[in-house]
Amino acid sequence: MGIETRVYLRCPKCGETYPLDYYRWLCPKCGIPLEVVVEPSSKPTWDKWKLREKGVWRYRELLPPIKKPVSLSEGGTPLIRADRISRNLWIKFEGANPTGSFKDRGMTVGVSIAAEAGARLVGAASTGNTSASLSAYASRAGMKSIVVLPKGKVALGKLFQAVLHGARIIEINGSFDDALAALMEAARRGIVYPLNSYNPWRLEGQKTIAYEIAETIGVPDYVFVPVGNAGNISAIWKGFKELETHGLIDRLPRMVGVQAVGASPLATAWKEGREEPVWFENPETVATAIRIGRPVNWYKALRAVEESGGYLLSVGDRKILGAQMEIARKVGVGVEPASAASYAGYKISIDEGLLDSKDRVVLVATGHALKDPGIVELVGKKSLVAGNVDEAVKLMSELSRGETGGGESKGQGVF
Ligand code: F0G
Repeated sequence: MGIETRVYLRCPKCGETYPLDYYRWLCPKCGIPLEVVVEPSSKPTWDKWKLREKGVWRYRELLPPIKKPVSLSEGGTPLIRADRISRNLWIKFEGANPTGSFKDRGMTVGVSIAAEAGARLVGAASTGNTSASLSAYASRAGMKSIVVLPKGKVALGKLFQAVLHGARIIEINGSFDDALAALMEAARRGIVYPLNSYNPWRLEGQKTIAYEIAETIGVPDYVFVPVGNAGNISAIWKGFKELETHGLIDRLPRMVGVQAVGASPLATAWKEGREEPVWFENPETVATAIRIGRPVNWYKALRAVEESGGYLLSVGDRKILGAQMEIARKVGVGVEPASAASYAGYKISIDEGLLDSKDRVVLVATGHALKDPGIVELVGKKSLVAGNVDEAVKLMSELSRGETGGGESKGQGVF
């Protein structure tokens, strides 16, 4: 047999390396999450990859070597050109993953690693999507799962998924950051194997978003990513850099991180020129997926934005909801509010002249609209009521002539 793939851990700050260890998450010196380094045994090439099925494991040379991945055919998501907005704008629709978010890319690797590590009980704190994904992949692997959620702050679709897949659910009176503190304490005591963004293995799966973008349209000028715990933007940047290292691309995109105004520890630091985040003790936003005040991967994310020549910005809730509706109606893609933050950030960037209409831009749309059906109350449900078949036909006829307006509207009717 040839040389084996070499895998080890490295601190992104001090550069110290550590041998492969599934139970080491933080650099003992710097106290920040480590990153995984994969040195492949055979050269990755686009030609080789293109012959394989689409999905995360198509890129296996650059992933941790796993004998039998726990997989639900994640990845290989559509990259949709948003022609009706701009010919230079694409949406990477991560809602098309098996549980409806990009978390599945991370979980196929994370749960596979947990299995190799001999874990039987996996856990995560979550704003919702991680718990949905973890519980599905744990079921696939025949493991048990525990999820810790901020009580009353998780979108209904995500909570339903965790219930459906049989996770044990703890709702904590507190924020996501409290949920994460609890989960990591349990992990330190050996109670549960943690699959949060502290765990660097999951991010290895998420970096394949970069590989897929580059494979489909080459390297764009900008990639916009909604930022919560800041793992995904770090993972995508890592992915692009690896492609460059292996000679698979010859330039890099600029990374733009978008946060909600009410939960913007990194965007605030960026605006104020600080090198460390400005913690938000009581984060609040309609985009519950990114309602996070103390992002654990802050160091990696700030470095990704800085190194790439990108920037961070924050968007208000009304802009997020407006962007969600605009993508749905102009592109035909339904995303959850957090995902729409990337489009809201794009619009602000165009308005403020940070972007040129000639720039090729990819927005990462992280989760499916069905995750958060409660939003219908905010959007203002519009429908007409027909008592019988004849009345329904009459209403359609009126609608076709533009005689009947919007119909009943419930909720605040933001639009
Ligand atoms: N978009 C969606 C839909 C998310 O669910 C998340 C994170 C993000 C963006 C932000 O990604 O944390 O890597 O910066 N959701 C986590 C969860 C926190 O628990 O589901 P990030």
